[in-house]
Amino acid sequence: MTTTTLPARRRALFHPLTVTGVNRLTEDAIEVVFEIPDELAEDFSYLPGQYVALRTTIEEEELRRSYSICSAQTAGELRIAIKKDFGGLFSTWALESLTAGMQMNVMIPQGTFTTTIDLADQKHYVAIAAGSGITPIMALARSVLAKSPGSRFTLVYANRTAQDVMFLEELADLKDRYPARFSLNHVLSREARSAAVFSGRLDHEKLQILLTELIRPSQVDEWFLCGPFELVQLCRDTLKAAGVPQTEINFELFTTGHPGTVEGSRGRRVVEDPGGANQRITFTLDGRTALVTTPVNARETVLNAALRVRPDVPFACAGGVCGTCRAKLIDGEVTMDENWALEPDEVEAGYILTCQSHPVSDAVTVDYDA
Ligand SMILES: Cc1cc2nc3c(=O)[nH]c(=O)nc-3n(C[C@H](O)[C@H](O)[C@H](O)COP(=O)(O)OP(=O)(O)OC[C@H]3O[C@@H](n4cnc5c(N)ncnc54)[C@H](O)[C@@H]3O)c2cc1C
Ligand code: FES
Repeated sequence: MTTTTLPARRRALFHPLTVTGVNRLTEDAIEVVFEIPDELAEDFSYLPGQYVALRTTIEEEELRRSYSICSAQTAGELRIAIKKDFGGLFSTWALESLTAGMQMNVMIPQGTFTTTIDLADQKHYVAIAAGSGITPIMALARSVLAKSPGSRFTLVYANRTAQDVMFLEELADLKDRYPARFSLNHVLSREARSAAVFSGRLDHEKLQILLTELIRPSQVDEWFLCGPFELVQLCRDTLKAAGVPQTEINFELFTTGHPGTVEGSRGRRVVEDPGGANQRITFTLDGRTALVTTPVNARETVLNAALRVRPDVPFACAGGVCGTCRAKLIDGEVTMDENWALEPDEVEAGYILTCQSHPVSDAVTVDYDA
């Protein structure tokens, strides 16, 4: 989620891309390099902080997972980083099986966790990241430092041990290249560091110390938060209490931390009941309008129902965090379970996350093209 000027939304299309490299970052994290052919260069242009969704089939199940781009814009390639989630289907497969030469279906870049970077800017950006949350921050830090010579970037990066630190060398290189403009602060929860504030869990107390001794919130122009749900919430609350306006805080969640949400949002098998009580969902996608009915008792999401008649309906996380499934509610009423992707003004304007929205009225009409 971001508070800066939103990038224009693009149709969430998949294209097959070739993997040209798989680099080991840590024991359980890899960087994956995709080749972008000239004819797809425009489709795969991106802003730092955006992500792509990958689609594959594992054990006959179609999986889609989102991964943030870690590179600053580079002609002819795009890089992402995947950290193995213990017990996770896609990330475990990727770490064990993804090799150079393979092709993968990749969705064109999406997301609003970004900012506009200007050559003339004199800004101070601060990022707080944990674990794989560093991925979009790498792209942001690299872009800010390279494109805005008058701006500074401060990073607080939390991990368990030094061995878990993704992009350890790349971060050190950035520090060497921009010693006066890049402040790099590792916090390790299970290793002692020279200063007590950088050792142990990044909790409320530690954040307070960092916000008094290391970072003066009044001298920061924009904040970027990315990591586990609890850490992002803690940082948002602490920054709010420190008087930081919400408009200066950007955050990205990889999950909502609510197991079970994803399964219920998409892919659930719902059988239409011709004789029972049904709700009607009308939706427009790419200029074509379709109608699907859903049993009232199934409490199905708009996305789940729409996929029954149009498999190309856009979605990625199915968990209310990425915003790919956004549509405008034209008619009727819905309830939305989770929303970690839409800005308040988008909600005000009638946009919904279809992966989280259940019809409440007898009929609803949504427009994916709006
Ligand atoms: C916008 C966005 C950007 C992202 N960027 C990145 C990134 O840059 N790098 C990155 O590594 N990740 C990123 N993610 C997260 C990524 O999309 C995946 O969610 C992550 O890799 C886990 O996927 P998986 O298929 O491996 O795990 P899943 O199979 O989806 O499982 C997720 C977790 O649930 C647990 N689980 C699943 N099923 C069960 C069950 N039945 N019982 C108990 N536990 C269960 C698993 O153990 C695992 O810990 C991003 C997510 C979003 C939304
Ligand atoms: S698919 Fe990610 S928010 Fe709905």
